[in-house]
Amino acid sequence: MSRYGMALVGSGSAVPITSVSNQQLSERVDTNDEWIRTRTGIGARRICNPEEPLTALATKAAEAALEHAGWKAEDLDLILMATSSPDDLFGTAPRVQGALGARQAVAFDLTAACSGFLFALITAGQYLRSGAMRRALVIGADQLSRWVDWDDRTTCVLFGDAAAAVAVEACPAEEDGLLGFRMHSDGSRNGCLTLAQSETHHSVLSGVSAQRGGFEPLRMNGQEVYKFAVREVPAVLKELLESTGISADQLDWLLLHQANQRILDAVADRFQIPHERVLSNLSNYGNTSAATIPLMLDEAVKDGRVKSGDLIASSGFGAGLSWGGALLRWSGPA
Ligand code: ACO
Repeated sequence: MSRYGMALVGSGSAVPITSVSNQQLSERVDTNDEWIRTRTGIGARRICNPEEPLTALATKAAEAALEHAGWKAEDLDLILMATSSPDDLFGTAPRVQGALGARQAVAFDLTAACSGFLFALITAGQYLRSGAMRRALVIGADQLSRWVDWDDRTTCVLFGDAAAAVAVEACPAEEDGLLGFRMHSDGSRNGCLTLAQSETHHSVLSGVSAQRGGFEPLRMNGQEVYKFAVREVPAVLKELLESTGISADQLDWLLLHQANQRILDAVADRFQIPHERVLSNLSNYGNTSAATIPLMLDEAVKDGRVKSGDLIASSGFGAGLSWGGALLRWSGPA
């Protein structure tokens, strides 16, 4: 067993100022507040404006997490940014690193859609537990408003933009805040939810054609993704509880990827977790992809619901298809 564990010691978040209500969306597509609320639990979502693109939002969230942890940017060894909608396909994390002035930190992106934050947190945990690194910022940030088809009512009502970050540091193994984790992928079902490179080619030389860079809008088979989520999320959480010997009634909080209130309720019912212990902010922000879990965590930490020592079962799921779970203990700042 490693000598080190990973402690979750700070959080921060940033959301765009522009909020779009269900009512406003009904001016663009054939939808209504009642349908969106009853089917999803979503009441509004935030949309990035030109003055504040993803890098700025992620930097703000990172600064808030650093301040909460009581760290300086130069203390960081690693900045891992989970995103599927980067400002730069070569990597947005280095832009955040530059903006923060985190000179010592290596910074790179990790792409796993709505599972991205959890996968990134678990990845960062491996560097800390091995003793290779001491302090990391794990950011979940997405600007899917870039990629949704605003004329497709089956998807555009679901997503919003946000960034959030968690500060994690190496700690003695007996204080490990990552009590267990599981990660899964099933690429055979990739077509259920895609944001794929478009298949357009152009001639660049005589006899040579190249693919033109650009992406198709986000496409989703909502019913298939729903069935996948209500089957796999309880299964991965069950695996996790069994492997760690922790029972559902010992959990302080259930913190799932915020995709649909019906999914949160179904998973909570499966484990008989009272709904007041299920964290949800879907009504304000919708599905912010890689940002949902840290955004919700930051809100609950800052309003005093999540306290030092609380045990949290978390699960991310989405495109890939991908899904995973982690049992976390929140430490908070020293
Ligand atoms: N407003 C009004 N009516 C609508 C809307 C809308 N915005 N969208 C769809 N409808 C209609 C449909 O056209 C359909 O009409 P019809 O019966 O006349 O054909 C009817 O409502 C029912 O549609 P369904 O797709 O069956 O609705 P459902 O109850 O399945 O809810 C939803 C759709 C909300 C998308 C749900 O399937 C869902 O949440 N799926 C999971 C999504 C998810 O979890 N994504 C997570 C991953 S995201 C990531 O990784 C980036």
